[in-house]
This record gives sequence, C-alpha cells and structure tokens, in this order.
Amino acid sequence: MPILYNEQTRILKLDAGDSTYAMHISDAGYLFHIYYGGHISDTDLEHLEIHGGGASFSPSPADAPHLSLDTALQEYPTAGTGDFRRPCLGVMEENGASGARLQYVSHDILQGQKPALQGLPATYLNAPGEADTLAIHMEDKHLGLRVTLYYCVFTQSSVITRWAVLENGGAQDLELRSALSACVEFCESDFDMISLRGAWCRERSVERHPLFHGATALESRRGSTGHQLNSFAILCEKGATEDYGQAYGFQLVYSGNFLLEAEVSQMNSTRVSIGVNPYDFGWQLKPGDAFTTPEAVLTYSNEGLGGISRTLHRLYRKNLCRGEWRDKPRPILINNWEATFFKFNAEKLVAIAREAAKADIDMLVMDDGWFGQRYDDHRALGDWVLNEEKMGCSLGELVERVKAEGLRFGIWFEPEMISPDSDLYRAHPDWALHIPGRSLTLGRDQSVLNLTLPEVRAYLIDSIGKVLESAEISYVKWDFNRNLTEVFSAALPAAQSREVWHRYVLGLYEIMEALVQRFPHILFESCSGGGGRFDPAMLYYMPQTWCSDNTDAADRLKIQYGTSFCFPVVTMGAHVAVCHNGREIPLRFRAAVAMAGSFGYELDLTKLPPEQIAEMKEMNADFRAWQSVIDTGDFYRLRSPFEGEETAWMFVSEDKSEALVQYFRTRVTGNSWATRLTLRGLAPEALYSFKGKQLRGDTLMRGGLVLGGRNDFAHHEIWLQRVPE
Ligand code: DGJ
Repeated sequence: MPILYNEQTRILKLDAGDSTYAMHISDAGYLFHIYYGGHISDTDLEHLEIHGGGASFSPSPADAPHLSLDTALQEYPTAGTGDFRRPCLGVMEENGASGARLQYVSHDILQGQKPALQGLPATYLNAPGEADTLAIHMEDKHLGLRVTLYYCVFTQSSVITRWAVLENGGAQDLELRSALSACVEFCESDFDMISLRGAWCRERSVERHPLFHGATALESRRGSTGHQLNSFAILCEKGATEDYGQAYGFQLVYSGNFLLEAEVSQMNSTRVSIGVNPYDFGWQLKPGDAFTTPEAVLTYSNEGLGGISRTLHRLYRKNLCRGEWRDKPRPILINNWEATFFKFNAEKLVAIAREAAKADIDMLVMDDGWFGQRYDDHRALGDWVLNEEKMGCSLGELVERVKAEGLRFGIWFEPEMISPDSDLYRAHPDWALHIPGRSLTLGRDQSVLNLTLPEVRAYLIDSIGKVLESAEISYVKWDFNRNLTEVFSAALPAAQSREVWHRYVLGLYEIMEALVQRFPHILFESCSGGGGRFDPAMLYYMPQTWCSDNTDAADRLKIQYGTSFCFPVVTMGAHVAVCHNGREIPLRFRAAVAMAGSFGYELDLTKLPPEQIAEMKEMNADFRAWQSVIDTGDFYRLRSPFEGEETAWMFVSEDKSEALVQYFRTRVTGNSWATRLTLRGLAPEALYSFKGKQLRGDTLMRGGLVLGGRNDFAHHEIWLQRVPE
C-alpha cells in the first residue's frame, strides 16, 4: 500500500520506491508537511513534526493562536493570512480583498488510478499496479473555494507527482493570482541547488551552488520554457556526487511561464515552490468553474544525482512519451538545414537522398524554406503550401522521388508563427498576438499567432493536416523561434487579459493533441531555435526534441551532458554536422557524440568524398547495433565536461547483459596521464567481453579501464557483452 492513513494520528504517509513523504492533518484542519526523504518504515511519525509555535511578528490564525503559519511546514500555503513566504495560492474576491485559508475536508485514495489533468499533458499509468493517487480535499469556506491536492505515488520508482484542482463552489467571481502546482518543505537548508542554465546554442549548462537565505528562483517570463533556465532543479546534500548522497529532483510538466523557487526562511527551513509563474498571471474563476494546475514531478535518490536522472529517464520514457514511436527505434535521418539553409529545390534534396542511401540513412527531412515565398527568413510563416515554383515539383512528387532513393520523408513546420509578409497575415492581421494601436515587436521578422482564438487553432490543424495528408510524410519537426510579446487578446474581456499566457499554452496543447492523434504514424520532434522548449510537456506530444542549434561536437558534449540530468538520451535530437568554430574534429568523434542522442546528420552529403560516405555507413551499422542500449538502457555519467577536458558516460541494458561506454577527450595537455575510468551499473559477478578481453563487472567498476589519447579529440567506444557462463 503506497498510501497509508493513520486515523489516530491523522498522518498520511506515502511510500514511493525508496522514498517516503508524510503529512499531518492538524485538529484545526491545517495540512502540515512532516517528512520527505529516504524510505522509513514506521507509520507513527508524529514526533517528526516541527511547527515551532508562534513566531514573533508573524500573526497567528484566530482558531490556532499558538501557531505561526509563517514558520510552519505546509503542503499548499496561501497568501494573505499569516504566511509571508512564497504562497502556492493567491485569490482575490470581487471586492478586491485578497487572502485564502484552506482547511482539510476529506481525502480519497484512488487505487491503481491517476486522474487525467484537464487539457494538460501529464504522466500516465501503463498498469494499475504502477501507482495510487491521493486526493486531499481542502476548502476555504469564506471564498467557497474548493481545492483538491493530488499526489500520484509510484510504487516501484521514487516518484511522486503533484497537481491541484481549484473550483469555485461559491457565489461570487474569484480571481486566481497564483495557483502553483506544489510546494515541498524541508526543515533544513543545508542543500546545494543544481540547475540547468543557458542561452541559444548553449543550452542546459550545469550550475551548482549552495542555497542562501531568501529565494533562488528559476523561471520563465517568455511564454515558453526558454533556453535560459529549465524548469528542473535538484536539491542535494552538500557532498552529493553522481553516485552518492541524497538528492531531490523537481520538474514541471509545462511549456509556458514557470516558476521553480527554493526559499530559505528565517528558521532555516527550505520551501521549494513549483508551478505556473505568478508573474502577470491571473485567472477568473466564475461560480462552478475549475482550474487545473500543471503536474509537478518530485523524485528522490539516495544514489546521488545519477539516481535522479535515471528515475526521470525511465518515467519520461515509459509514463510520459506516448504513441508508437515511444518504443520503436528512431530512424537515422539527414536534415538539409545546415546543408543548404534556404537554397534548395527538389533536385538538391534528391541528390542528398541519393548519397544518404549509400550511407544507409533512413530518412530525409526537408527543413525550413519549402512553403509560400519562404526564400529567406523574413517572410511566409503561416503559408503552409509547398512552393512548387521553387521546388520544381509537387510535394507528392518530391516524396516519391526521395522514396525511390530508399528514404522516408520528413518535413519542417513552425506552426505557431505568422510573418507580417505572408498571405496569412494579409488575410488575418488580427490573428497575430498584438495590442491594438501598437506596432508589433518582431523577432526574426515574425510574430506569434494568438492560439487563444479557436479559429487560429482550427486553421493550423486544418492547414498542417492537409500537408500531412497530401503525401507520405513520416516525420514532422515542429519549430518555435521567438518568445511572446504583446500577450493580449481583444477577444477576452479586460478582466481576463492576464489569462492569455496560459491560454496560449493550452491552445498549443490542443493543436498538438489533435495532430498527433490524427497522424499516429508520424514521428514528431519539437524544436525551439534548438533546445529552447525542451520540457517534459512537449515530450508528451513529441517523443524527441532538437537539443541545440549548436552542432559543434565539443560544445554538444556539454549540452547533451547537461540535458541528461533530466531528459532521456533517446529524446535528444543530435546530428553530425561539418566542423564549426574553427576546429577540426574527426568524423567518428562527431558521430560518437551524436549517437548519444536521437542520431542523424545535418550536412551536405553531396560535397563529401565517397570514403566519408562509406565511413558513415559503418558508423550507422555500429549505431544500429548499439541503439537499443542507448535508447532504453540506464545512463551513467562518468566524467563531466564542465570539470575538464574529458567527458565519459555509459549505457547499461536493463538486464545488464550489454553496455556501451563512450569516452571523449577534447584536448590533450602536456605531460598528462592516461585516465583510469571506473564503470558503473554492471552486474559485479558477471563476465563481460570487449575488444578481445574478458573481465568481470567488479573489476570494471572498481579497477576500471585505462583510456587516454595522445591527440585532441580522442575518443573510445567500448561495447561490453555479458559472456554466458
Ligand atoms: C531553428 C531550428 O533550431 C533549426 O534547426 C532550423 O530548423 C531553423 N530554425 C529553420 O529556420
């Protein structure tokens, strides 16, 4: 039973994998947090509760004069009634008064079930045994507001997911000013925080720092997740490493403005708050209306940071990604973007496909530039009709010609955008997000469509659907290349203007859901100027994301290493490109880096000598032999590119019978030693064979392998196979 309720003590205890989470319903109906950490067996946990009584200068509720909500550890704190830290809930009444106080009403334990989140992507169960869900019903009688807090407790993995549903059961209109998904309290603050920061072409660098008093906020105010900060963080004990120590992971299943904040209080406790960013947020809740927050994922590991990553990888691969491509080997593809940019026609694409066939590449993806007057990036977004004059044939003919070369066909869209110089804009200028009387703020000469309008959503589903139906399309790359401005919709009353940010995201989810349902055979990949919208919510619709526009293999080591903190390797689009940044990197090294991802190419194959095409054919054969371990194995980070010139990681199949080790050295320094790389995750007693040798798992994990390289860009790939005994 992963969810236990002790009626005497009124303690709810949740056991998720190796973790326990506990809370207490006080006599006055407050829901206090007691514990989150490694699994504990006792259910009598009263002695763990800390709420320290009243605190000076922090007022106490009338019904609990010895209690300070400002210092208590709570499950879903509210604003305006005595807790001055970050609230989960902020509500305004019709008369402008703000304040809420929630009290426990009842709870239900939903065995083997996980309710869906209205209009939102979320993790799901494959079988009832995977999880139970706790629904705690709270209410604010004065407001008539009912709040249900959901905790989905996974039995076999250390995952609890949380969300809330807020319903106006009263008679007056309410305005939500903050409606976070969850907060998690810790009675201590001696943590390091690890987050993923970045910029375009520098996505998801790993940053680690101690917490300090006050708040550290990771957030987006851009309308999408963004390159700058991911909606993911780890809080870990100070000495935690990849393999040792306690760590907690937090991530939001959402693609818009988010907040993930760690706030250290005057009592040295830490509150982690996670949800839709309250920045410029508002939501009108009329009597009878309900609002569902996005899902927050909480993970625990007593095996360091790597444990958090492996738990999330499994969760996202098996309980978030959907559809037939979830478990199928992804095709090796060639994308024409870096090969041609906008200068291509059918002839050029077919010529690339011809070379690709020689290298055993599976699919050709036609990137930006095939539609309307899209001869450059200044125009035509929204005009989703093939430019036959430029291409020299119809889409159907092009696809058939590529197929005749032996490749399947994929296509690029940037659905959410509209260029002022487009037929779509000339017909519907009011479809762009805009403020009447103000000029548009453009990015890459484009504006964003107002996805809160049903007619815009219908247009996109229809126009994209027509293209996808018109030919045998096997793959779609869904791009998004600017952030939101003029976030306003004249169709909504002024009181609802702050809803546009969230309604945009809901509109996007509706469109994607319609298209992925209608075209279940298509493999969808999301993209946002590289990896600017790499979040779990997008993975619910599209099981892979283009990791970065930076295809330099040396830089990619960092980008993919950082991305692996929360996202499975199979979800990271990674391509072999020509050498960038003035450095010559051997083809095999570039390919090895891209193989630690959803593998492909992005260069002009017609310009390569036959020997390189032949080498690619060999590399592709290697990749296919390793692909199932890369895609579905457990991932262990062994050396960090953020700490030196070496990067190493390995993949181990679930049954530990196969493993792939990848070691990269980007630079050799004078008088440097070889490296002894100790492996992880193998069966200690098992015998593994590799490169003509046989060694046991314990030797490989304790003694390791001596690797090195006398030149820059040296790398090793070691394929280990268990020897039957
Ligand atoms: C940004 C993407 O990240 C690139 O891969 C490419 O598709 C361009 N957009 C096309 O405009």
